Amino acid sequence: MHAIGVDIGGTKIAVGVVDEAGRILAKVRRDTAADDVASMDRAIADACTELAKEHEIGAIGLAAAGFVSPDRSSVLFAPNIAWREYPLAQKVSELVDLDVPVVVENDANAAGWAEFRFGAAREASDMLLLTIGTGLGGAIVVDRELVRGKWGVAAEVGHMRVVPGGHYCGCGHEGCWEQYASGTALVRDARQAATATPERARRLVELAGGDPDGITGPQITQAAQDGDELSIELLATLGRWVGEGSASVAALLDPELIVLGGGVGAAGDLLLAPVRKAYEAQLSALGHRPVAQIELAQQGNEAGIIGAADLARR
Ligand code: BGC
Ligand code: NA
Ligand code: ZN
Repeated sequence: MHAIGVDIGGTKIAVGVVDEAGRILAKVRRDTAADDVASMDRAIADACTELAKEHEIGAIGLAAAGFVSPDRSSVLFAPNIAWREYPLAQKVSELVDLDVPVVVENDANAAGWAEFRFGAAREASDMLLLTIGTGLGGAIVVDRELVRGKWGVAAEVGHMRVVPGGHYCGCGHEGCWEQYASGTALVRDARQAATATPERARRLVELAGGDPDGITGPQITQAAQDGDELSIELLATLGRWVGEGSASVAALLDPELIVLGGGVGAAGDLLLAPVRKAYEAQLSALGHRPVAQIELAQQGNEAGIIGAADLARR
């Protein structure tokens, strides 16, 4: 059966028709605004209706960046999008011109499922996936099963506190891991460095068209790849936060594989090497236990679509 997967981001949605082997047969995108949830519903429904004209669809899976209810129907809360107790599946069902089940999944769980079934973790039985983007998302596979928790909201690792009294988080607390290990944190620190030490940030600010507040994640990656010292350092700092936090997660879960997804994966070894180094530095019993592999995700931007579609079939 073919299913539609929808990856709902803060500023855009990506929608695809996915076959049982995890291949995307067709894809469309729409721009959206994170503070206007009703217009997001319409954009999703619109894109699904369009794709269903050319393809026979058996289910729709929505990957949402938030805390999802255990019956897979609603977003209970989202730190970075205006969903509160939001019946997303029902809203989309009402608007879409199709009589098929609509289910909601956490975005990172969807991406993690795609990597586990078809990507970097397909040989693994125990995996932690981290999506490093606007927020920091997590997916946990233990003994080949996605861990959902009692109330659907397991693996919200981005909100583990790593710095008492640290940066304020969209979830209402301070010092959450995602305030240090996300694309948002990377950009925040880059902009701050550009103001504090303009000489060191010359290349970055130039890439941003002269405006420090215009610096973006892809520009930091590009500058780092061109050898820009500040950008290399910023990615290394991000990597250190990712690696150290992962070592704490390993104390709890003992994964065999840690998969890193999200746009910043484009930085490759400039991110991976510091992550691996910090992971080992912080891992307890190092030298007396196997060390998990840490790898980049393989499904890139499409993991959310593929995973949401595949989970909707189950
Ligand atoms: C949210 C998660 C989401 C992650 C990545 C976090 O802020 O709490 O639900 O998976 O961001 O989008
Ligand atoms: Na998750
Ligand atoms: Zn938080």
